[in-house]
Amino acid sequence: MRSYSKIIVFFLSLWPIYLITYQIVFNQLGPEPVDRIINHFGEWTLIFILLTLSMTPLKKITKSIEWIKFRRMLGLFTFFYASVHMLSYVGLDYRFDFEPLINDVLKKKFIFIGFSAWLLLIPLAVTSSEKMVRLLKKNWKKIHRLIYIIGIFGVLHYIWLSKTIFFKPLIFLILLIILLLFRIKITKSVSKI
Ligand code: HEM
Repeated sequence: MRSYSKIIVFFLSLWPIYLITYQIVFNQLGPEPVDRIINHFGEWTLIFILLTLSMTPLKKITKSIEWIKFRRMLGLFTFFYASVHMLSYVGLDYRFDFEPLINDVLKKKFIFIGFSAWLLLIPLAVTSSEKMVRLLKKNWKKIHRLIYIIGIFGVLHYIWLSKTIFFKPLIFLILLIILLLFRIKITKSVSKI
């Protein structure tokens, strides 16, 4: 049962890939296919950040430790989709010409903050293994708190690029605030013990 649920979550996490493949094969990407692909992976990156952040609150609410075993996988999928999102932007928009990309990172604040979020994901992905948890001990938790900053950067990136908070960016912002409030509550209740 244990390993089955992980396998199921793994294949469910590939949903964004199935979806975009279907849209490519059946020509459903619309008039701006490149933007469609970039946005698709950007949105799914944000969804995976929220899913990763939901595991601890779900553990508390359902009083079941089961959720925690999906957290690492969901975190790694977040990094995977963020990387595909960035690579589709660099590859499809700029054909891997890094000069305009560097200009964009420096000049457009929404790209700068998106890129910063991606950079912050790297230490989380690198230290995600059991071995690293043991090696880094208390510091591991500290490093992995970066996910909150990454979530905030991701939502800011979305609000800035949309030039409005209505409506999808607002929904993501509200969900992120709820999850951050949960975290504050959990930390407070742990420190009381
Ligand atoms: C954790 C990292 C990131 C998250 C959560 C994220 C999230 C998003 C979201 C939600 C969108 C809009 C999707 C939509 O409109 O449906 C988006 C679009 C975009 N992102 Fe990101 N992103 C991240 C990193 C990056 C990076 C590293 C780059 C490039 C260096 C980047 C460049 C873009 C671009 C160019 C767009 C499309 C803007 C347009 O429509 O013109 N993002 N991203």
